[in-house]
Amino acid sequence: MSCIKGQKSMHVVRRLVLWLLLTNIMLVLYCLTNSTKVNTRDSQDDTCPHRMGKSSERNVTSQSTQSQSNKCSPKSNILFMKTHKTASSTVLNIIFRFGEKHKLKFAFPDGRNDFFYPSPFLCSQVKDYRPGDCFNVVCNHMRFNVQEVAKLLPPDAVYITILRDPVDLFESSFHYYHRAVPLTWRISGENKLREFLNSPKTYYDPDAFNSFYLKNLLFFDFGFDNNLEADDPLVTKNIHYLSRQFDLVLIAEYFEESLILLKDKLCWTMEDILYFKLNARKNSSVSKLDPELRAKALRWNGVDWRLYQHFNASFWAKVEAFGVERMRQEVKELRRRNAEMKAICIENGGAVEAQKIHNRHFLPWQPVGESSILGYNIKKNIDSKFRTICEKMLTPEIQYLSDLGVNLWLTRLWGWFKDSVTYSMTWIKTFTI
Ligand SMILES: *[C@@H]1O[C@H](CO)[C@@H](O)[C@H](O)[C@H]1NC(C)=O
Ligand SMILES: *[C@@H]1O[C@H](CO)[C@@H](O)[C@H](O)[C@H]1NC(C)=O
Ligand SMILES: *[C@@H]1O[C@H](CO)[C@@H](O)[C@H](O)[C@H]1NC(C)=O
Repeated sequence: MSCIKGQKSMHVVRRLVLWLLLTNIMLVLYCLTNSTKVNTRDSQDDTCPHRMGKSSERNVTSQSTQSQSNKCSPKSNILFMKTHKTASSTVLNIIFRFGEKHKLKFAFPDGRNDFFYPSPFLCSQVKDYRPGDCFNVVCNHMRFNVQEVAKLLPPDAVYITILRDPVDLFESSFHYYHRAVPLTWRISGENKLREFLNSPKTYYDPDAFNSFYLKNLLFFDFGFDNNLEADDPLVTKNIHYLSRQFDLVLIAEYFEESLILLKDKLCWTMEDILYFKLNARKNSSVSKLDPELRAKALRWNGVDWRLYQHFNASFWAKVEAFGVERMRQEVKELRRRNAEMKAICIENGGAVEAQKIHNRHFLPWQPVGESSILGYNIKKNIDSKFRTICEKMLTPEIQYLSDLGVNLWLTRLWGWFKDSVTYSMTWIKTFTI
């Protein structure tokens, strides 16, 4: 028995080493090809010519949401700054659908599903980019860099993003990325999250690889220093800077209200914002934090907490301006329409675990080392008039990007590698217990 076990382990190890080697070679090649592309920039002439002034400084005035229910035309120039672990994949699906329906021009990344995150965004990371090109939509993961983004979009573009309670975001990020952050590998014990929060200074190093996933990830995504102290004046300055850039900041905890404000801002229809919750995690993998740990997580992510507080307040001011009763009615209608779509599209009425998804086209991307992200099975006999909309609403990000014509060879290579690791880990677990 142990002999077979030994042989099989050797086999696994050999496969792993081979995968690793291959991936590294490909990565190095990829980086080399790309480093030649970057750096041919930095003049004002490369800006999308529809832009009026030369300054890429935006000034969103905090005018109250225009109640534009009667007369307005749908807006189609959009920046969606996709943050991590904030229900942003669900918003992305809505944007993909709208963009596809109206044949909008997306600025997509090249070979992968993000703009070289965590490097700051540069126009040159856009697929087939030529200075002066204009796009309608920019929506993939990036480390925000407003000067560069603004070059791609007309001046009337609407800037949107989404935030989530930093404590839950931290829990989610820790869970999702811990195997990709070497800092966490030496944390012992069953509950690594608790261990980390009880003494973060022991484990955390701001200069370590991928460490930003463990502290103030939102602030990092927006291009700022995620290691500032919460009371640093720079934090306030950066928050105010963001509030001038973004026309609308959605809040994941109030997702339906957020979508209603989005619909209002963009002059879209209720149908445009229908959604199924994508990329949710199965309950058993969500760590329940007791109040004491929550307080620690909050203090640890104090900068994100301030950011969240600021935009939660402005969010509710917008709801007030929109009309509280009107909001209540619209949310009710959105829920009704979503439930209707669920009944039409989804087998057995809800999300299922990855292993139970029959069609790989609807299988969401999983974190390294496990399959905790839920997905859906599409019903078999859908009325032909709903078939397409059901399929689109259920298609996860990576597959949707492929459908939109993005070549994702690097993402796929990484996925292949990741799945082999996951497979080997499951395998090793079964044979060593
Ligand atoms: C934007 O608004 C701020 C404060 O209202 C002002 O100081 C700044 O000059 C404005 N910038 C531009 C480009 O209009
Ligand atoms: C997961 O938890 C949520 C909230 O606690 C609950 O509403 C839902 O029914 C649970 N789902 C399952 C499959 O247990
Ligand atoms: C967000 O704002 C709402 C409305 O003012 C408030 O009830 C809620 O507690 C706030 N959330 C946080 C986390 O501050």
